[in-house]
Amino acid sequence: MPRKSPPRRAPALQDKTSRPARWEGKTKPDWLSRALARAGALPLQEAEDAIQEGRVTVNGRVVRQPLAPVPEGAVLRVDGTEVRREVETRVLAFHKPADLLTSTVSQHRTGTVYEVLLPQLPSELARYTWHAVGRLDRGTTGLLLFTNDEKLVAHATSPETHLAKRYVATVQGTADEARVAPLRQGVQLEDGPTRPAQVRIRDAHTVEVIVTEGRNHQVKRMLGAVGLPVRALHREAIGGVALDVPVGTFRLLTPEEVTEGLGYAGRHHG
Ligand code: URA
Repeated sequence: MPRKSPPRRAPALQDKTSRPARWEGKTKPDWLSRALARAGALPLQEAEDAIQEGRVTVNGRVVRQPLAPVPEGAVLRVDGTEVRREVETRVLAFHKPADLLTSTVSQHRTGTVYEVLLPQLPSELARYTWHAVGRLDRGTTGLLLFTNDEKLVAHATSPETHLAKRYVATVQGTADEARVAPLRQGVQLEDGPTRPAQVRIRDAHTVEVIVTEGRNHQVKRMLGAVGLPVRALHREAIGGVALDVPVGTFRLLTPEEVTEGLGYAGRHHG
């Protein structure tokens, strides 16, 4: 069962005006192939094959439909071996290079972040299905999280969580206090006003922006709205997790980084 205790707030990069982060886990029955993949028993495609080959049982009975719903608490076996369904939430911090798309898990095409990340994973991590936590534009570099826990994706990307994302933008034009000041109040974009952002000028062409939403192209649009078109954008931190690995590489976050840094207390069954 998902733990119901409210997640703790991240210690860094938090919007002081925000409401507490909250994720109410809901338990929906999983379908069989997905339950096996989530539990890390087999990658999704191999799970489908195993089910169709009659190698998978649910509560002792062979089930050959990959989309069969799995009742809560059901015992799953592959080739007679019980699948441990309580899976710890795992989160990877990846340093996204430029010129890669953040695709969804089902679109592992060439030119995507998965093409660079997946071949690096050791076997104990490669068996999970990895979901990108939000997205970065193709040209944007920096911290991109991946997780095996879709509830964490929902938690971290919900504007209600108020998880702070810190970006550094290289801008055209000269950044000065008068120009960036409206960002601290919130600016009007075509999809509505933005929340107040934290903004710091690092030098005349470098601006740090901390936002607690994650709308499409948000930082570029915000800076564009105050006359500072973005030439390059880099994400340095999400919540209390700061980027600390070389470009193109990843590391596994510690459980403390997930709970404290991302404000996420849930672990889930597969
Ligand atoms: N804001 C943007 O404009 N682009 C990104 O990739 C992320 C945030």
